[in-house]
Amino acid sequence: MNLVRTVSDLRQAVSDARQAGKSIGLVPTMGALHNGHLSLVQRACSECDFVVVSIFVNPTQFNNPDDLRTYPRTLDKDTRFLADNSRVDVIFAPTVEEVYPEPDTRTFSFGPLAEVMEGKYRPGHFNGVAQVVSKLFDFARPDKAYFGLKDFQQLAIIRRMVADLGLGISIVPCPIVREADGLALSSRNTLLTPEARAAAPFIAKVLARSTQLTDQYTPVQLAQWVQGQIDATQGLETEYYQIVDGNTLQPVEAWTDADYVVGCVTVYAGKVRLIDNVTYKE
Ligand code: PAF
Repeated sequence: MNLVRTVSDLRQAVSDARQAGKSIGLVPTMGALHNGHLSLVQRACSECDFVVVSIFVNPTQFNNPDDLRTYPRTLDKDTRFLADNSRVDVIFAPTVEEVYPEPDTRTFSFGPLAEVMEGKYRPGHFNGVAQVVSKLFDFARPDKAYFGLKDFQQLAIIRRMVADLGLGISIVPCPIVREADGLALSSRNTLLTPEARAAAPFIAKVLARSTQLTDQYTPVQLAQWVQGQIDATQGLETEYYQIVDGNTLQPVEAWTDADYVVGCVTVYAGKVRLIDNVTYKE
């Protein structure tokens, strides 16, 4: 496994692999790797001949400077974790200057997809995600790229970007990986206080319980029920819970409004912002 720091070294490694007839898989991450990331990496290794994992905390997708400052950065540990648990070929861990030699002034427009949920509460977030992911796609030129379903809206945005730009990259969605108590794995979990960590599994429990209640409630009523349950728990506060069409991400008013229906939540567990989601219909 090679640790590569520059775009030109990455391009060279990928071009050598291509010349040897290998297919390329990319797993974009911001590091602080956990078993959720590992599931993406393992999937990539099982489907692609040559696998690149990028580790880059992308400043342009943070709209809160404190969030960017405190985001965990654990490159040595991440490198050991991948070496011990996978057959990744390249870790690409560039500096900010390497990725952004000039400020990125590109503006992406994703229409209604980016106007709801994370797009509404984190203005500019998805523009920053699109900036960095489009660059990573250009640097690595993968056949396939792997993203977790936990970031449900991000996945929809990236799919749209790939279609809009005609990149011809296959986007592979990977299931959410959870702790034994149900908490969705996230790099941010390491920032939770013991009290917030103890409260956080309740989020997944409420989401799971809500799937049993679709006969009793409309989507709007069920969203209120979920928010009420979570907000009644000490140490947890929802920012939003929305039940949406899983393809358009627009809220549904009736269960029959869409074939694919997903509930997406953002919760503050203490000061840490966690996201999760559950599928009602697919
Ligand atoms: O999901 C993430 O970790 C990030 O948003 C990504 C896709 C690596 C872009 O920085």
